[in-house]
Amino acid sequence: LAQFAVFGHPIAHSLSPQIHQAFAQQFGIALQYRTIDAAPDAFADAVRRFFAQEDGRGANVTLPHKHAAFALADERSQAATRAGTANVLTRLADGRLAAHNTDGAAMVRDLTDRHDLDLRGHDALLLGAGGAARAVAWSLFEAGVSTLTIVNRSPEAADALADAIGEPARVHTRYWDDLGHIGSFDLVVNATSAGTLGQSLTLPFSLIGSRAACYDLGYGPSAFGFLAWARAAGARYAHDGLGMLVEQAADAFQLWHGRRPDTGPVYQSLSTRSS
Ligand code: ATR
Repeated sequence: LAQFAVFGHPIAHSLSPQIHQAFAQQFGIALQYRTIDAAPDAFADAVRRFFAQEDGRGANVTLPHKHAAFALADERSQAATRAGTANVLTRLADGRLAAHNTDGAAMVRDLTDRHDLDLRGHDALLLGAGGAARAVAWSLFEAGVSTLTIVNRSPEAADALADAIGEPARVHTRYWDDLGHIGSFDLVVNATSAGTLGQSLTLPFSLIGSRAACYDLGYGPSAFGFLAWARAAGARYAHDGLGMLVEQAADAFQLWHGRRPDTGPVYQSLSTRSS
């Protein structure tokens, strides 16, 4: 059987194995897809062993390994290079490893195709400037938002991200302490790791415009706090990142198998189970 895996730490509760098996069933493909728990200092060796000795064909990578996955690859896609992180590793025919980052494209597809949001003309606020934020920032920009405001607790990281995008007319930064008086937005994306860390964000209701959509890159309990705030603030839409998870899995599946799975039924069954 063709071998696939997701690397993380922790990883036991990952939904990726069942997502990939559901996609594989759509095409009658038989594969093995397992979770591999690797501590940060064991990650690179575990990846090399998987690809060189265990016949691994492809891997997904999640927290806390996305930077390391990018660093160890031999080739890197443009999206991975921009983000500085990778969520997909693919073994090339000659055995070298290619890094991809499909998170940004996945988020935009989830927002526009699944949730029917047209991002063109929106004023978007991106909270956070770490690995997750970098992975989605260019995709948001390219989806046609009018402005992208990046706000991060440490302003240097927000400035570095805005500089890297290099579109000063449409992409700018503000201070976290100024969130209460920078007006309202049509789209607010939470790309901080606060929820994952069990911390709460204190955000003013004034950020929410009349047609606002709020999106948390996380899903399940890590997104509860932000989405509860969004609903209390009167956001028209409040979505977690479950659809993004399924979409990024579909991108990985296509890279590995050359076929595009139908994400609808997989998303439906996962969201029914988690609600
Ligand atoms: P990830 O890969 O999940 O993005 P990361 O690269 O460590 O993880 O980035 C974490 C992001 O969440 C950063 O933008 C961080 O802000 P700082 O750069 O100021 O550290 C943000 N973050 C984490 N906890 C936060 C909190 N309690 N409030 C606000 N921002 C927080």
